[in-house]
Amino acid sequence: MRKPLVAGNWKMNGSRENAESLIAGIKEGLGVNAAVEAAICPPFVYLSEVGSRLSGSGIALGAQNVSQHGNGAYTGEISTSMLLDVGCKYVISGHSERRALYGEADSLVAEKVVAINAAGLKPILCVGELLKERESGKTEEVVARQLDVLLNSAEGLAALQNTVIAYEPVWAIGTGMTATPEQAQDVHAFIRQRIAAKDTALAQKVRILYGGSVKGNNASELFAKADIDGGLIGGASLQVEEFLAICRAVK
Ligand code: PGA
Repeated sequence: MRKPLVAGNWKMNGSRENAESLIAGIKEGLGVNAAVEAAICPPFVYLSEVGSRLSGSGIALGAQNVSQHGNGAYTGEISTSMLLDVGCKYVISGHSERRALYGEADSLVAEKVVAINAAGLKPILCVGELLKERESGKTEEVVARQLDVLLNSAEGLAALQNTVIAYEPVWAIGTGMTATPEQAQDVHAFIRQRIAAKDTALAQKVRILYGGSVKGNNASELFAKADIDGGLIGGASLQVEEFLAICRAVK
């Protein structure tokens, strides 16, 4: 059985004050809910504080990015050991905003996934196609390319054993244009099959989240699909009631 995960990606939003009330509201509303694992990924500067507030709640802490390098002369970067040090469990890698705005290529994303796993953290690997790629029938080709860079190397395949995959069609992120449950399920099933071709046991156990305009009112129909094991939530994770509604929507 794959335990559903709902992870909130705050992106570059929030303040200390706002983080405090958001976490308090989520902790109170979520209570002890064994059916879902929740995680919060705040900006780096709030990780320690959010981590302390989450302590004992069962809600996991995650980071939005990390350096592929170990500690050293990399001004402005954050290492996996620092993330471990402040209590992170998850690290998002390959988010489409990092790919599009910061030029992160498949090879760099794969390097980060391997480094995250080697440090004892769990990668959340984001994959997904652009609108023009979907419209030209290239969705599977793009997602396969983004996965294969890990599937085709021994260390990549080893890292995938501890990875959560998030299918996030780029055209659905922050646009209010959610993929239909059928569109999402088709790609999730494709991802699982692609992994099964290399490792059938891994394909069965890997959690595949959907991300892209998930809200309280569309989460249950997405999460009802066989291969959708939760969500990676952007905008709606900044609102207590929305985030809670999404957590309660898991099957
Ligand atoms: P969104 O973002 O929920 O605001 O569409 C999702 C994501 O970028 O992970």
